Amino acid sequence: MDNRPIGFLDSGVGGLTVVRELMRQLPYEEIVYIGDSARAPYGPRPAEQIREYTWELVQFLLTQNVKMIVFACNTATAVAWEEVKEKLDIPVLGVILPGSSAAIKSTRSGKIGIIGTPMTIKSDIYRQKIVSLAPQMTVLSLSCPKFAPLVESNEMASSVAKKVVYETLASLVGKVDTLVLGCTHYPLLRPIIQNVMGPEVKLIDSGAECVRDVSVLLNYFQINHSRIPNQSIPVFYTTASTQSFREIAMNWLNTDIDVRHVDLQAQDEGVGLENDG
Ligand code: DGL
Repeated sequence: MDNRPIGFLDSGVGGLTVVRELMRQLPYEEIVYIGDSARAPYGPRPAEQIREYTWELVQFLLTQNVKMIVFACNTATAVAWEEVKEKLDIPVLGVILPGSSAAIKSTRSGKIGIIGTPMTIKSDIYRQKIVSLAPQMTVLSLSCPKFAPLVESNEMASSVAKKVVYETLASLVGKVDTLVLGCTHYPLLRPIIQNVMGPEVKLIDSGAECVRDVSVLLNYFQINHSRIPNQSIPVFYTTASTQSFREIAMNWLNTDIDVRHVDLQAQDEGVGLENDG
């Protein structure tokens, strides 16, 4: 048993899609989350910068006494997960391997689409993982640079979002029977994506798949929460406005949460935490 929280990191609000699934599958676990919305999106940034920012998020979570870290961000997983998991002595999970396995299980035609941020697609990591597990698969990858910013600005239901998703995905329609949402922001656009791709296309939520692995690892290392009904409210830190984060999070999670601002640079100097009350 281990009653310390599980730490989640993302470039912004996308990791909430993983947290919602964790709350559903593992309601006893305590959560601490850091979203770097002040510097989102990560996807168009150079790898070295994403790596540096990801390490700052990891260091922050370590100050929160976490028992495990979930990279609730495909872009950070593509760039820094291997390195971080080697260096830490707590389990560190990424979203890419679980998403790849789920896509292989789901496809009937052997034609899988991957959508993600510019960095995730450029890294080619999904295609490599999928064909290393199942060489007969055909993988079509597509970068969707406009999707995460739409979600960060809470415009998921707007007519602009519909137009952008429709135009961006046009080249994939009719070509795949399974589509991996290879960015944790994308499940927030799911109804529009499903509508554009058609009802027969199976959408894989990489974050939700990853929570199954969280559960396996908690059991393996025997670090489950002790199942005293969890009274604690999950704590979410954001590097940007608490108001905007709270709005998106409350809508998505449908529960009471504690949102706090953190300045990661000031944190290094020993100040920087602030509650939004
Ligand atoms: N949510 C992130 C991902 O899963 C990153 C989006 C971004 O900041 O570009 O890739």
